[in-house]
Amino acid sequence: MSRKGKRLYEGKAKILYEGPEAGTLVVHFKDDATAFNGEKFDVIEGKGVLNNRISEYFFTRLGEMGIPTSFLKRLNMREQLHRKVEIIPLEVIVRNVAAGSICKRLGLKEGEPLPRAIIEYCYKNDELGDPLVAEEHVTAFGWATPQELDDIVQYTVRVNDIMSGIFAGIGIRLVDFKIEFGREYAGDMVRTVLADEISPDSCRLWDFKTNEKLDKDRFRRDLGGLVDAYTEVARRLGLLNDNGGGPRPRPKLVKG
Ligand code: TMP
Repeated sequence: MSRKGKRLYEGKAKILYEGPEAGTLVVHFKDDATAFNGEKFDVIEGKGVLNNRISEYFFTRLGEMGIPTSFLKRLNMREQLHRKVEIIPLEVIVRNVAAGSICKRLGLKEGEPLPRAIIEYCYKNDELGDPLVAEEHVTAFGWATPQELDDIVQYTVRVNDIMSGIFAGIGIRLVDFKIEFGREYAGDMVRTVLADEISPDSCRLWDFKTNEKLDKDRFRRDLGGLVDAYTEVARRLGLLNDNGGGPRPRPKLVKG
């Protein structure tokens, strides 16, 4: 059980509480699913539990590979403990294959390979619908300093490499994903760390062989079977059938 303090913020898919110690935060994963800036809404039983486990897995692996993160530990089925950070108001999107909004914007066909991985930034602002912005806006408006943006790009490229590799090993194509970063203060020092979550809510994941969608597009496009798809991702990562207390599970590799 978690000893959480007062509720600090309720987002679309998560609730943040004050943590048991100063400078910590309890993140609670809800079953709520939203899309199109909250216009579409449903409660999908079991989604929060799966995202909690999947996000724990990626934050742990990325931390082991030298990416600083806010993640401390998973507390229970729905909650994890993070260091409190100041969120940098950017959605950092990486695209390996054309899908979603870039198709509409640039007239690309879904599934078209991109010439190389592309990083995009959206300014986190619900009233404005998280508009796409350029690096110039990010630094000119002071949403991040040039040094922070530099850190963000370097970490983001590594996160894409590591995650694409992990997913490829379990027969899944990492089409695109969104991550967020925060500022962690320690005395008069500040560092940039990976924050928020990494889950099938924030990634596009296609089965390599069948191209079946294993992500939140199942909800966005009314395809059904969201929990089955997220469960399949967790299963391939080796996250099911353990009680969370044993050694860290390893993904099961899939042949060509
Ligand atoms: P997009 O194609 O709709 O711009 O989405 C790109 C990626 O970012 C996709 O993996 C879904 C993820 N995403 C979020 O996590 N939150 C959001 O609010 C949006 C719009 C996209």
